[in-house]
Amino acid sequence: MADRKGKVAVVGAGFYGSTTAQRLAEYDIFSTVVLTDIVEGRPEGLALDMNQSRPIEGFETRVIGQTTGPNGEGYEVISGADVVVITAGLPRKPGMSRMDLIQTNAKIVRQVAENVARHAPDAVVIVVSNPLDEMTALTQLATGFPRQRVLGQAGMLDTARFTHFVAEELAVPVASVRTLTLGSHGDTMVPVPSQCTVNGAALTDLLTAEKIDELVNRTRNGGAEVVALLKTGSAYFAPSAAAARMARAVVEDSHAVLPVCAWVDGEFGISGVYLGVTAEIGRAGVVRVVQTPLTDDELAGLRAAAEAVRAKQADVENL
Ligand code: LAC
Repeated sequence: MADRKGKVAVVGAGFYGSTTAQRLAEYDIFSTVVLTDIVEGRPEGLALDMNQSRPIEGFETRVIGQTTGPNGEGYEVISGADVVVITAGLPRKPGMSRMDLIQTNAKIVRQVAENVARHAPDAVVIVVSNPLDEMTALTQLATGFPRQRVLGQAGMLDTARFTHFVAEELAVPVASVRTLTLGSHGDTMVPVPSQCTVNGAALTDLLTAEKIDELVNRTRNGGAEVVALLKTGSAYFAPSAAAARMARAVVEDSHAVLPVCAWVDGEFGISGVYLGVTAEIGRAGVVRVVQTPLTDDELAGLRAAAEAVRAKQADVENL
């Protein structure tokens, strides 16, 4: 692999950010992965540790760690980044909803977004901070970037959880299962059973509606279930896998169709809102929103989710 190219920066070196950086580095396709944090020494220490794993894991990508200061000191390190993944912000505590984080995380994410706009003005930005749909909308506002260059990670994670639960239920390999969730990364998540298959057979022919509902509910509460078990912090292995794959799709200009949080402008009869949809991902960010065929019920669910997140997204401007 001689032609490593591209630079991906990860802001926030908590569990989510650091595992994302590690996965990106282990792909061994980028020239540089940058990891930043406001906790003095943490990103440098983690980067050193990751770089020392290179001879064992066999990758050459260099990881650069950089502490950033309250006035944006250190952000020069992200200059020229093709993709910036924003993981900054607090995770949930047991019993909290993602929306409970909005005030605190809005302040953090706004500051990060302003620094990203200053130092990596051409980057595609992938937001993972919660509440996801609102923080994605806020990042677009605070960066002033074109909307297709700002997207959020949620659908890949929610879909992966749904797929895992279906595979466990039917005792089949995860690779044989295709599922889909759209809508918000929260209460108005919209599972799409009509698009779910197992070895090509319709999920609705394999499981009862009650069983599918049960798995859907577990998916909707998938993040909270992990938070409750961990007691401190939230999930990061599956979330980081999703964020890293999205960054890779951008840098490789793969045009893969992935479930992501993207700006919707007319598709599904919905306009002017960041929402979980399927979209073609490439070097430009969101190349286009793909209109998955939906049943009337699923479409109604997606429209309801759009209205719920629209109201909240209108508020973020003032946070
Ligand atoms: C979750 C958090 C990361 O769903 O939103 O686990």
